[in-house]
Amino acid sequence: MRLVVTGAQWGDEGKGKMTDFLAQKSDVVVRYQGGNNAGHTILFNGNKYALQSIPSGIFNPKIKNVMANGMVVNPKAALEELAKLHSMGITDYQLFISDRAAVIMPYHIALDGAYETAKGGKMIGTTKKGIGTAYADKYARIGIRIGDLLDRDYFAERLNDALSVKNLELKMLGLETMEFEPLFEEYLEYGQKLKPFICDTSILLNKEVEKDSNILFEGAQGVMLCIEHGTYPFVTSSSPSTIGVPIGTGIPPKYIDHALGICKAYNTRVGAGSFPTELDGDLAHWIRERGHEYGTVTGRPRRVGYLDTVALRHACRISGLDSLAIMLFDVLSGISELKICTNYELDGEIIDFIPSTLSAYNRCKPVFIDMPIWNEDITQIKSFGDLPENAKFYLKKIEELVKTKIAYVSVGPDRTQTIEI
Ligand code: IMP
Repeated sequence: MRLVVTGAQWGDEGKGKMTDFLAQKSDVVVRYQGGNNAGHTILFNGNKYALQSIPSGIFNPKIKNVMANGMVVNPKAALEELAKLHSMGITDYQLFISDRAAVIMPYHIALDGAYETAKGGKMIGTTKKGIGTAYADKYARIGIRIGDLLDRDYFAERLNDALSVKNLELKMLGLETMEFEPLFEEYLEYGQKLKPFICDTSILLNKEVEKDSNILFEGAQGVMLCIEHGTYPFVTSSSPSTIGVPIGTGIPPKYIDHALGICKAYNTRVGAGSFPTELDGDLAHWIRERGHEYGTVTGRPRRVGYLDTVALRHACRISGLDSLAIMLFDVLSGISELKICTNYELDGEIIDFIPSTLSAYNRCKPVFIDMPIWNEDITQIKSFGDLPENAKFYLKKIEELVKTKIAYVSVGPDRTQTIEI
């Protein structure tokens, strides 16, 4: 079985918990896009681990963990992440990093920050990890790839070529230029340290397909942050949706069996950009505190709002979602007022799509239906049938509105607090 687990909203849906849960049944776990802008918090043996670029199967020595070609990898940060895992006793693992993955260099990080500053009030609110600037260089064909770090002469040539352009950009933005020699030596060394993990992961993955292994593709961020189908320009620079898998791994689309969308029982968003169902005031504060809605990577408070099924239908369509996992469902117990957004109103018309321009999206007003609330604590409930009637009604309404079955409901942070339907 080849299963894709992908965020069905604006990221932070709780993919870490579900991938960790499903990773137990997997032979291989693969990250196919993004980099250390992602933050997966995993509770394991009473410890809390925050993974950023390392796949979620890393705690199980039997699982092959793959950082595939579609990722942007910061070698320094990846080594630090590994060192942190070692210091917490995680030393027995299998990790494979694609020789074709793009390298995040220090100038990418400097430029990510500088572009944000230059935009003044129109910042995207990036994680400033150099994600977009590294992807931009990949597509401008001046990127450096992980495999390049292993070939001294070739890396020297690639870095020279890149620096001749990047130093012009740095100078233009009033930043210090970067010298070849220290950068070259530092990154050569990272290459040597990562060498045991570097390989052609597309060959490895296709062999696993031949063996009929259980492969879990772990998306970072969410469909609404997709560079192609998200709320552009307030998006990340890769495609977190299911369609990002073939290009980001070298596995043909025909081998993907099932797509599971991870979705909060409400909506959140970090960074700027339209958010039609956004709440403010006491109710927003109440949800934020109960759901611990603060960024894993940046610590920023997340914007919160009612569940938006226009965005969710968009995600189901783009990612071809076969089923959904509804996360943080327990957060809604005891809420004073509950609504679901069914459509938008745009310039007096009721619509059921995400407009392509930000200007139109900003004008969209949510059309809500009121939902009955429930006050019972549901954190220890193990089966759908035992949920309060109004909670069941809420889940059934989601299924009806997005025409996709719910496979899992999460009622607490622990692995065991998961209802399988
Ligand atoms: P970047 O990925 O750092 O370029 O940031 C672009 C946008 O994506 C910003 O709005 C970020 O807040 C958002 N973003 C990036 N990674 C995540 C994530 O893991 N969860 C939620 N939002 C994210």
